[in-house]
Amino acid sequence: MAKAKTAFVCSDCGADFPKWQGQCGECNAWNTLSEIRLSSAAGKTVVTSRGGARSGFAGSKAAVQRLEEVAVLDLPRLASGFEEFDRVLGGGFVPGSSILIGGHPGAGKSTLLLQTLCRLAAQHSALYVTGEESPEQIALRASRLNLPADQLQLLAETDVDEILSSALTLQPRILVVDSIQVVHSETLTSAPGSVSQVRDCAAQLTRYAKQTGTVLILVGHVTKDGSLAGPKVLEHMIDCSILLEGDHDSRYRTLRGQKNRFGAVNELGIFAMTDSGMREVTNPSAIFLDRSEHTAPGTTVVVVWEGTRPLLVEIQALVDDSSLGNPRRVTVGFEQNRLAMLLAVLHRHAGIHVGDQDVFANVVGGVRVTETSADLALLLAVVSSLRNRPLPRDWVVFGEVGLSGEIRPVASGQERITEAAKHGFKVAIVPKANTPQKPPPNLKVIPVTRLTEALEACG
Ligand code: TYD
Ligand code: MG
Repeated sequence: MAKAKTAFVCSDCGADFPKWQGQCGECNAWNTLSEIRLSSAAGKTVVTSRGGARSGFAGSKAAVQRLEEVAVLDLPRLASGFEEFDRVLGGGFVPGSSILIGGHPGAGKSTLLLQTLCRLAAQHSALYVTGEESPEQIALRASRLNLPADQLQLLAETDVDEILSSALTLQPRILVVDSIQVVHSETLTSAPGSVSQVRDCAAQLTRYAKQTGTVLILVGHVTKDGSLAGPKVLEHMIDCSILLEGDHDSRYRTLRGQKNRFGAVNELGIFAMTDSGMREVTNPSAIFLDRSEHTAPGTTVVVVWEGTRPLLVEIQALVDDSSLGNPRRVTVGFEQNRLAMLLAVLHRHAGIHVGDQDVFANVVGGVRVTETSADLALLLAVVSSLRNRPLPRDWVVFGEVGLSGEIRPVASGQERITEAAKHGFKVAIVPKANTPQKPPPNLKVIPVTRLTEALEACG
């Protein structure tokens, strides 16, 4: 038998190296390389450099062909039964694709997939492999959620070879493995959950999915410290990576595509975790708003654009005297560097100094705002908190703030304004270039070109 070869793989970015080194040469992370054994036996995964596994499709020798000669199989997508889920997937599950669903423990991954599969099983054969919960626990959950349990096949197994042989016998159209971190292979000596195990098992399952046209869904836990081999190492080999996120104290969960070979990635699906499982929220534009009459300083409402629809979210800021030499800039739901940049613009172009203050910023409801349209709303919230002067509750703000203190337009301005008017907002502070030709009748639009104008408008 040939000597087993080894490689060193970064658990953050998945790059591999022939020798161990303290720092990953690709992503510069420290202490993330761990050893993996490359199995070269026939039919086993051969890990190639730069991630992914070369899936040696059994027996077929690939020939060079022109693009137009490639037969395109127009396989219908499988609808998940949840509109919000399909939206994120780009219109349902593509046969032969592999999908990774990541999220913190308790986010609701198992619940969402169990609900999806129980419904799908009525039309397509489905196999749910559970490595974390016992079949009894799953049956209990299914009966509590009133799910049809008569068609779904269940397997409690963590050995990848057993999973594959059951799948070959049952030939399911859709296969769920919950979770990939507990699946292991006998041929590898490393512990379940280690980089090499996760990577090798996922490669074998993906290869099976590609060869048989099965929809493969892998569940992966994300840990904060990254001690467990995170789903990062899988991102190269799978077709679609989706993250289920949500605050622990909020019942809303968002499903966001990180990578999708069959659709757009900017779509957001919204669910609510209820006592009867995950329920989709099909009209989510105002669910994150607090409807109380009470006005508080440091709060503004912004209309962000998520994928193809608007979402009204509340932004909170707290500015307080700092006792530290290096005042804190803490963000929840925003990028921290963006806050630091915006505070510099505020100082330089509006003369408002917060260098000796701690600044905390939060997006209410556990949403993560990645759009620059929230810049202006964030700064107005900071100034409102600093001056202890609340903004009226029926005001809404959006706009990108540039480094020279200018307010830049954002996409879909008209639709954002219409949505705000629909939810009863009376005044909108918007970038000048987003001023609508015909503003909605009950809403006053205040167009601004500079940050100082926006601050003046707030009084
Ligand atoms: P689960 O799907 O087990 O999470 P994951 O697989 O992502 O780790 O969901 C567990 C959480 O969901 C748990 O905190 C309880 C909550 N939950 C409900 O609120 N309602 C329900 O009907 C169910 C099944 C779970
Ligand atoms: Mg689970």
